[in-house]
Amino acid sequence: MSTTYGTFPGSRPRRLRTTPAMRRMVAETRLHPADLILPAFVREGISTPVPISAMPGVVQHTRDTLRKAAVEALEAGVSGIMLFGVPEDAKKDAAGTAGTDPDGILQVAIRDVRAEVGDDLIVMSDLCLDEFTDHGHCGVLDASGRVDNDATLERYAEMAQVQADAGVHVVGPSGMMDGQVGVIRDALDQTGHEDVSVLAYTAKYASAFYGPFREAVGSSLQGDRKTYQQDPANARESLRELALDLAEGADMVMVKPALPYLDILAKVAEAVDVPVAAYQISGEYAMVEAAAANGWIDRDRAIMETLTSVKRAGANMILTYWATEAARRLR
Ligand code: PBG
Repeated sequence: MSTTYGTFPGSRPRRLRTTPAMRRMVAETRLHPADLILPAFVREGISTPVPISAMPGVVQHTRDTLRKAAVEALEAGVSGIMLFGVPEDAKKDAAGTAGTDPDGILQVAIRDVRAEVGDDLIVMSDLCLDEFTDHGHCGVLDASGRVDNDATLERYAEMAQVQADAGVHVVGPSGMMDGQVGVIRDALDQTGHEDVSVLAYTAKYASAFYGPFREAVGSSLQGDRKTYQQDPANARESLRELALDLAEGADMVMVKPALPYLDILAKVAEAVDVPVAAYQISGEYAMVEAAAANGWIDRDRAIMETLTSVKRAGANMILTYWATEAARRLR
């Protein structure tokens, strides 16, 4: 490939890096505002937004400020919003009943946001019990305290129905229970919600980087999630989860976290013919913000570099807490 003529290099890749215009022309990856989806937290019973200390710049929204954040995201060109509901502490119980209450905070928030944005912004919801259970697990527990897969599936089917009744466009099952996509698809179809799509958290790892999320949803998890989320040591297992989710009817698939799992993302993206999302999670956000606050990295460059890397690895859509800010910068 590279021939050397005399003392001169025969090939000079630097020629294509000489100016901003040249670099722009030859860029292989281009971020677009429409690639981005904003995850957002809404908390019941508050009248002003509550800052999340481990995620500077991110808040638990009131119903009102959530509506405003949705409109801002839409105006910035973001394509979707992923909603997480934070119920009042007193409403958390072992079965996570607030998650299936038609007037529960998540359902209320879905209706609020839909009323504000109609079909112009894709409204998505986290379909998982951990925000609503007092023990903080993603499912219900059996007598021995183990997360009961099949009993949890029944709860997920109910959640799918109430979220769809509230008007969600896309449900995002994130609990990593076996069979969750199939049960949710059935529940949606049986209740007349055949147009509601499923964004499956396909490869979701038991990650330390979810740390700040616990504060964001006010959860005090007892134990860990290692019996249902994937082991960071495994890659091939993601392809098994992927095959199952597709067979069960997933419309879109997701890899999570993003940056520490770009290899998984690339494998998944290569293997599928459905859209692929990646979730840049709370701890990824916190790392960059913390380093930037200390003056150790250039915040804006670091944000755009992480997003570009995730897209380059194969994501069509990126869930990121910087969605609105990054979309504005891209415009
Ligand atoms: C589960 C869920 C979690 C996140 C999204 N959905 C927490 C977990 O699995 O432990 C994490 C998102 C983030 O850390 O930004 N409901």
